Amino acid sequence: MDSIIVTGNGPLKGQIPIAGAKNACLTLMPATLLSDEPLTLTNAPRLSDIKTMSALLESLGAEVSQLQDGQVLVMSSHALSSHVADYDIVRKMRASILVLGPMLARDGHAVVSLPGGCAIGARPVDLHLRALEAMGAELELKEGYVHAKARNGLKGGTVEFPLVSVGATENALMAATLAKGTTVLKNAAREPEIVDLADCLRRMGAQIEGDGTGTITIQGVDRLGGATHPVVPDRIELGTYMLAPAICGGEVECLGGRIDLVGAFCEKLDAAGIDVSETEKGIKVSRKNGRVKSVDVTTEPFPGFPTDLQAQMMALMCTAEGTSVLEEKIFENRFMHAPELMRMGANIDVHGGTATVTGVERLKGAPVMATDLRASVSLILAGLAAEGETIVNRVYHLDRGYESVEEKLGNVGARIERVSGQ
Ligand code: EPZ
Repeated sequence: MDSIIVTGNGPLKGQIPIAGAKNACLTLMPATLLSDEPLTLTNAPRLSDIKTMSALLESLGAEVSQLQDGQVLVMSSHALSSHVADYDIVRKMRASILVLGPMLARDGHAVVSLPGGCAIGARPVDLHLRALEAMGAELELKEGYVHAKARNGLKGGTVEFPLVSVGATENALMAATLAKGTTVLKNAAREPEIVDLADCLRRMGAQIEGDGTGTITIQGVDRLGGATHPVVPDRIELGTYMLAPAICGGEVECLGGRIDLVGAFCEKLDAAGIDVSETEKGIKVSRKNGRVKSVDVTTEPFPGFPTDLQAQMMALMCTAEGTSVLEEKIFENRFMHAPELMRMGANIDVHGGTATVTGVERLKGAPVMATDLRASVSLILAGLAAEGETIVNRVYHLDRGYESVEEKLGNVGARIERVSGQ
């Protein structure tokens, strides 16, 4: 297993290109199952999760070609050779559940393994299943698999989500495009990745309104065609790299970053004394002189502060002046980065879903362990500001969501290198 070694090296300077969004691409790719014509995605990120989704689609009989070093994906699924999404793939990546809605909508049957939990929580899929049942699907749980049937096709219905779920909204949205009649999704997720999916489905011929709000209305159509769609920039990668100059000083321009994708996050950076400005090419971030100020953060569904930036923000607060309170309201166990940051000298008190962070002047480098995708990158950020060397182990978590992190940070002056494990 590879490790990444980061040595605190003072202020950063330069530009970091922002890739297409992992969490948009992982829902856009299963959309190919809705049509027998090719779907082409441009600006696709080059990540291991994308390779895992490609392998899953190919196991169902779809064809996936990666062009331009993986930045362009051309997918087509004339006829599926299998309708079974195997536990082996699904347990590695929860987003695999997103093939359920499209397969059911297109062919009237699907067998998908329950994903099981993951490091940050139990992460059930009950809301996905309830949404499909509201569209007439018959579901049966057998030996860890969901057996779904819609003998006469799905029919339009009203889905009231009791809590906001990105994935369940995406599954229901894709399924509804081919259901007979009108489907209304209430208390739907409003994330930019939902809007990006709706844009792509409309290019394929779907009739969708209200995406980006809490109520989405879909008129089912008989078939969907092919399309070419650019993946929206990754707002979580963007927020992560905006925090690099914030935590160790300097000035970095994030190329392709869009300020509308990170509104709530930028408000917190501004309150912490970080300078954020839009440029022609993206977003420029610099730290005004003096220490970062502590700010309180509560994670919420979009447009609130994203849970996927909580770990990274905690790293910044570890070096801030004063005390900040971070509340994680989306997942039940998303503070695993805290004990690792404490190994670096951070002063964090965790009680349930609340972490109280009292900033210290300087963190100290140490060997630390990555536990999940966002926790691992928060340790890299902490290492940028720490005195001495930080060794982040198990960086396979990192490679799931960040393209060549050592190159992007190295190009703006960070001392960072990857050491291949045995
Ligand atoms: C998506 O996960 C993202 N993943 C996550 O990013 C992100 O943290 C999350 O949305 C919230 O923004 C992808 O898009 C691939 P949810 P998802 O359904 O869809 C509960 C990353 O780091 N819930 O919005 O799985 C659930 O347990 C990843 O890139 C149910 O109870 O998240 C959680 O507490 C991590 N029943 C809350 O809802 C369900 O059927 C929000 O989950 C579904 C979810």
